[in-house]
Amino acid sequence: MPSLCYTPAMDKSWMQMTQNLLEWYAKNARVLPWRTDPTPYHVWLSEIMLQQTRVEAVMGYYTRFLSVLPDIQALANADEEQYLKLWEGLGYYSRVRNLHKAAELVVNQYQGELPHTKKELQKLPGIGSYTAGAIASIAYGQREPAVDGNVLRILARVSADSRDILEPKVKTEAERTFKSIMDLQDKTFRAGDFNQALMDLGATVCLPNGKPKCEACPLSAFCKAHQTGHETDYPTRLKKTKRKIEERTVLLLQYKDRFAIHRRPDTGLLAGLYELPNMLGTVDEEGAKELSQDLGFSIGEVHFMGKAKHIFSHIEWHMTGYHLIVDELQENALKNAGYQFQTIKDIKFSYTLPSAFSFYYRYLAELKLQFS
Ligand code: ADE
Repeated sequence: MPSLCYTPAMDKSWMQMTQNLLEWYAKNARVLPWRTDPTPYHVWLSEIMLQQTRVEAVMGYYTRFLSVLPDIQALANADEEQYLKLWEGLGYYSRVRNLHKAAELVVNQYQGELPHTKKELQKLPGIGSYTAGAIASIAYGQREPAVDGNVLRILARVSADSRDILEPKVKTEAERTFKSIMDLQDKTFRAGDFNQALMDLGATVCLPNGKPKCEACPLSAFCKAHQTGHETDYPTRLKKTKRKIEERTVLLLQYKDRFAIHRRPDTGLLAGLYELPNMLGTVDEEGAKELSQDLGFSIGEVHFMGKAKHIFSHIEWHMTGYHLIVDELQENALKNAGYQFQTIKDIKFSYTLPSAFSFYYRYLAELKLQFS
């Protein structure tokens, strides 16, 4: 079976491929905000935001985050509410918690300067092999690979390698291969450009899901999958593990001009963020009223808000939402349920709400018109 592993025979073709790739990048690099001034902090922040998130979704967040927290010291000094709010809607919130923890470590243990080597970078929370490679190469010019799913797809096609790219061993081998290729290059070689060229090639040309644009690819003459017309067979399609489906009922409990929100536990899914009250299972309007009454709220009207779906990495929420008007608010009901009632304005500006509930926040935003 063909292997991704580096062999001396690869030298010649990889020297040419590297040159083609870098020439292609010089003409086709995407214009991205973190590329204009690639300081270690800028590169670090962008790479963390880009983990599991599309470039288009990251751009606005990146600029806004930096306008509020422009350097590592400011990030280390920020409080939880502030950095969570800046991340609101981007998802995978443990990324920003780790970013903050790491900024504190950098200030306290590294004199405020992000370490230069891949090995040291990987000691910081939230920085794995890919992110460490990206920072070390882009910000510090170190010859370190940054191998993610996009890069593995390119390599699987170029070498017609049918192994599972999710296998840790395949990734380790690919990292070794790219390290060897980088070490073969002359003094003028720019490791950051090389890695970013691969990222851009994966994002714009060597596309997944059967849509590679081989006619525009600087590596096509060397690509074993392309030579045999089998580019869409790589990487080998993997059996996807099925997501667990959870039915949930979401309650928009309104008392006068205030709405109930609830802080999620400090650990687990969406840890520490605020949510609309919700519980497992699906009920009808009468059931929603009963649920709320069981929580100690006296309910007048009930309105169906609609059904919504949110997909996390391992779980799907299939939600049914009801808007309920609370007639009377008793202190002990609030305490028992752990809810607090806040105005729409406060919910919008002072609490971090995950996008899982965005369908129902829209309903809330429409209600706002009644109070303004
Ligand atoms: N994806 C991950 N890191 C990236 C970067 N630096 N540029 C473009 N896309 C990326």
